[in-house]
Amino acid sequence: MHKARMVQSLNLLPVEERVKASQEAGNNTFLLKNRDVFLDMLTDSGVNAMSQAQYAAMMNADDSYAGSETFYRLEDAIKEVFGTPFFLPAHQGRACENIICQTFIKPGQTVLMNYHFTTTKAHIMRNGGKVVEIVSKEGLKVTSELPFKGNLDIERLRREIETAGADNIAFLRIEAGTNLIGGQPVSMANMREAVEIAKDAGILTIFDASLLSDNLYFIKQREKEFAHTSLNEITLELGKMFDITYFSARKLGCVRGGGIITNREDLYNAMIGLVPLYEGFLTYGGMSVREMEALAVGLRESLDFHVIEQTPIFVEALVNELLGAKIPVITPPGGLGCHIDAMAFCDHLPQSQYRAGALATAAFISGGFRGMERGTISEERNADGSEHFAEMELLRLALPKRVFTLSQIKYVADRLVWLYENRNLIGGLRFTFEPKILRFFFGRLEPVSDWPQKLAEKFKMDFGDSL
Ligand code: F0G
Repeated sequence: MHKARMVQSLNLLPVEERVKASQEAGNNTFLLKNRDVFLDMLTDSGVNAMSQAQYAAMMNADDSYAGSETFYRLEDAIKEVFGTPFFLPAHQGRACENIICQTFIKPGQTVLMNYHFTTTKAHIMRNGGKVVEIVSKEGLKVTSELPFKGNLDIERLRREIETAGADNIAFLRIEAGTNLIGGQPVSMANMREAVEIAKDAGILTIFDASLLSDNLYFIKQREKEFAHTSLNEITLELGKMFDITYFSARKLGCVRGGGIITNREDLYNAMIGLVPLYEGFLTYGGMSVREMEALAVGLRESLDFHVIEQTPIFVEALVNELLGAKIPVITPPGGLGCHIDAMAFCDHLPQSQYRAGALATAAFISGGFRGMERGTISEERNADGSEHFAEMELLRLALPKRVFTLSQIKYVADRLVWLYENRNLIGGLRFTFEPKILRFFFGRLEPVSDWPQKLAEKFKMDFGDSL
């Protein structure tokens, strides 16, 4: 329920130049120049379309280092949306994770969670913590009918608390719209149960609401109890349920920023000192006041079903197109984007040659769209230096909110169908430069053979030179 009134021109390089651009980027889609990319499906982070009300609000910002009126307006919006009185601003989601992990993890402690996100895990490990994932078994299956694959396995939660002992657990973290297993939602029923168990055991509960918009959509669509509940009522219940909620406002609210919110003054006071140390003064936390004004509007807009529905509807459309061609994708369709199962798509490659990374390179060559590897490259090596193979090898094609048209989605599907028919031409990758931390961001790889050129030759035979 919107129309586009501001547009950005796009560029589609010919296929041989796409091969060159990929080479120059170390076959890592993070290192591509955006000018060489036709459809940027790397992420939905900080690249969502804002509304005219958000742009208008930006003009109303109050530039002051301390006590800015903008901060109080944002605080009011947060109170209205989540019901929480305490708010610490931060420049993005991982900055919140830094503050939370430094404050609440003692070395050797475990953090229980449905599933990790890359930056979350890195911060937990940096602070001496250990990640234990307790997502339901079904959550790790590629195809499923389960409406809430991000749900926690409640029996496992009880067992882990019993074996580790509550004192050895830093906190329970639940991630809305579970990113790395395919943007899969968590049900309210599951969150209520898990949080109650943690609270009974005296364990701190933390909610990562970065992907809340999609999760809210699925709660409304798939959980009967909430069919007639407003999105604000659901969000208020969540704000009350968890000790701490944090979010990347690059996703939630469609701007660039982040925040930590809580009902508990003691927790707020425990974290407060780290905000000026890492982020900026308490009333801006590293965000521009203009972004903060837009965030206040964006958070309220996130409670409008017609604002949040486009991404999940487009994800479903893309998933259905691909399923029609028998391409292996994560089902049921989730939020955030379409997740292609590279484990199956590239089952002719050994996992040590990075199936999802190879598919990301091949997809860029085939159509000029860039996705994100979410597989072994996104993992960190084991302490002994051996490769830690990911449970899932996914190519994520993110759908930034309200950015693409359905015909662009269909174009992506068309090129993927061609690639699937020619998948045996996709070869493996190996590292030429491998950073120790978060290697997927700036690691460089090379193809194990001249397969990118062969793939491009076949493309030219089938499509002609100009595409
Ligand atoms: N938590 C979740 C669930 C996320 O998806 C992200 C970011 C973060 C935390 C960190 O937030 O980027 O603002 O520091 N996800 C982006 C993505 C990077 O592409 O999925 P950030």
